[in-house]
Amino acid sequence: MQQVRKLVSVADLSRAWWKRLYLQCCDIINYPDDYVGFCQGRILASMFFESSTRTNFSFQAAAQRLGAGVFGFSDPLGTSVSKGETLADTIRMTASYSDTIVIRSPQEGAATAAALYSEVPVINAGDGGHFHPTQTLTDLATIAQKRGNIENLRIGICGDLKHGRTVHSLVEAMGMFTGISFCLISPKELRLPEYVLRQITSHGQEYVESETLSECIPELDILYMTRVQRERFHDAAEYRRLKDVYVLTKKMLHGAKSDMLIMHPLPRYGEISTDVDDDPRAVYFEQARFGMFIRMSLLNDFLRLPRQKPPQVTEGLTKLQCNNPACITQSDFYLPKIVSHLGADRCGYCDKKFPILTF
Ligand code: NCD
Repeated sequence: MQQVRKLVSVADLSRAWWKRLYLQCCDIINYPDDYVGFCQGRILASMFFESSTRTNFSFQAAAQRLGAGVFGFSDPLGTSVSKGETLADTIRMTASYSDTIVIRSPQEGAATAAALYSEVPVINAGDGGHFHPTQTLTDLATIAQKRGNIENLRIGICGDLKHGRTVHSLVEAMGMFTGISFCLISPKELRLPEYVLRQITSHGQEYVESETLSECIPELDILYMTRVQRERFHDAAEYRRLKDVYVLTKKMLHGAKSDMLIMHPLPRYGEISTDVDDDPRAVYFEQARFGMFIRMSLLNDFLRLPRQKPPQVTEGLTKLQCNNPACITQSDFYLPKIVSHLGADRCGYCDKKFPILTF
């Protein structure tokens, strides 16, 4: 298997690599002491341009449990980015001091852009409302640990499907597995974006869209709840109107399967009532712990890779200009204009369709 050098989207993850990462993760869970010092002398750079608790802490804990050092920031105000340094230059510098970079940014495509300038592996810890592939590794590890496999699942995903980056990556990753179908539960305004829906159909999987949570629950094997993403709304009134649409309570679980998993990437903001926490089907806190182990597995692969000059971008170039205001290309004009792996009519950073040109 060719060594992968980045995890910026689920497209970087093959089934073979997932299997290897998961087997190593199981070994780490069973024999954590065997891995102490595996990455001694290596350094993880942790660049969080957006707030985080679980992802940031679990990466730091994962690196330190492997014996690696960590430097970084969780507030860009203390860095030269606040003096106007470009992402490309910041990444070149950071890569020169470290062995792997983890980056979280409010801008879609930031990790893809970072990987173009880095001599060390780049991991996307969340790019705006786009993708969050290591939360997906966490989710897959949780399902595999709890059910023994990831096959034949009816998955209900509920909440803010429009802005939920964990949802977008999870849906794409499910294309690697068989017997998967989805029940997508959201208000009309927060439906799954078109580029993610396309992934479901391109994998030959089925989905229904629904606005009612209780109606779907009895048929589900997994219920994946999500928070309405306040930070992605332009209209505060719209956020207030939609934020409490779904609240999962203990009472609603009466008709649910006895082995249904209740998952959530966390943080929650009222969408799972605390009376659900002691239900044996609620696995969201364990899920966060599995996240640390699967990140140890990932870092163990990446931190020890030799440095490599980033490849020159020669393919997939376009003259088209993305107009998604959240896309990294809106601020970092020097970036090569590339097309998405989903099609030449889409931006290679944020996957949104280019505007149709009229002459
Ligand atoms: C998620 C995120 O940041 O996208 N949290 C996480 O990484 N565990 C979900 C969220 O913030 O709602």
